[in-house]
Amino acid sequence: MKHMEHKEHFHGSDLEAIEKIYGIKKEDITSFGANVNPLGISPLLRKHIADNIDAITAYPDREYTKLRKAIADYTKVDADFIIAGNGCSELISGLMHYVRPKHAIVFAPSYSEYEHEITLSGGKCEYFYSKPENDFIPDIDEFSKMVKKETELVVICNPNNPTSYAMDNDTIRKILDICKINNAIVMIDETYIEFAPDCDSLTAVPLVSQYDNLIILRGISKFFAAPGLRLGYAISSDKELLANVNKQAIPWSVNSLADVAAEVMFNDTDYISATRKLINEQRDIMYNAIKEIPSLKAYKPYANFLLVRILDNRVNAQDVFDAAIRKGLMIRDCATFESLDEHYFRFCFMQPDKNKELLEVIKCTLSIQE
Ligand SMILES: Cc1ncc(COP(=O)(O)O)c(C=O)c1O
Repeated sequence: MKHMEHKEHFHGSDLEAIEKIYGIKKEDITSFGANVNPLGISPLLRKHIADNIDAITAYPDREYTKLRKAIADYTKVDADFIIAGNGCSELISGLMHYVRPKHAIVFAPSYSEYEHEITLSGGKCEYFYSKPENDFIPDIDEFSKMVKKETELVVICNPNNPTSYAMDNDTIRKILDICKINNAIVMIDETYIEFAPDCDSLTAVPLVSQYDNLIILRGISKFFAAPGLRLGYAISSDKELLANVNKQAIPWSVNSLADVAAEVMFNDTDYISATRKLINEQRDIMYNAIKEIPSLKAYKPYANFLLVRILDNRVNAQDVFDAAIRKGLMIRDCATFESLDEHYFRFCFMQPDKNKELLEVIKCTLSIQE
């Protein structure tokens, strides 16, 4: 198949770059790469922010007392166990810059910002790979051999981006126990946990009161479809750790509108259940449909996206990307993820009609080669 000129790999949110290279207006692109809830923000949240726009005329409460209380009620933990940040990203950065780990282990393949921030902080990291032949399910016995006395930090994304695999609480406990013996902190990025079919049993939040070496990061960018609001939070029972991560942030790094949004967002049960229903249905439909295609391998998804491997060597992820973008559908070519290659792509679940369109493009791209 003839490739288009570009050799770049786009991040899920690089709509401006796509606009420039392919000449497609960003309003006309359906972003299957950004992993954001296709429902958009809820009408309730839209109205609440509009009604409270004057909040920007004042500085937010520096302690974020009301905001932390709203998050505490939502996650069912003590507000003292919570700090807020400018997206999960600021908290990843703050944690890495505070710990500056001499030796960190990052479960891979995963989100590249962990390694990026560890390196920026002057720390060093090693990857612990889950393997395609094991369906990207991490082997915890293998992991335990890698943990050393110098290991200061272990980083896990659960459910993982890009594999969409989620570890259960028993597995996480094993990791926490191994790390506790070695005095290592375990950071779990739960950015996608609310999309998981059984979020309440998969989240590690209930483990926070039992393990003081655990810090969980979450955000509202994906599930609540508000990446521009920049709100994230960290949960840990180690208050000193939280205070030190907080010290890395600039003052008022969470803006007043995020503070206002939290008053309704976490209680918006209609929106929360509509999102879960849509994603649960579309996850099953898309996973089953991709499984039917002989030249593709789909890895069982727990998040709101699916990782796919192309088994036909004549086709690569860029072929699928090019075919899809011509129809205004933007998927994620996964060639830049550690340990993955040009045969992997990822897409998130959007509205049913768009998912169907993408499925047709994928089928068409693969059948052309046969
Ligand atoms: C695993 C993971 N963590 C964190 C982020 C960034 O989150 P936030 O927008 O809350 O900073 C992303 C965004 O793609 C992500 O995939």
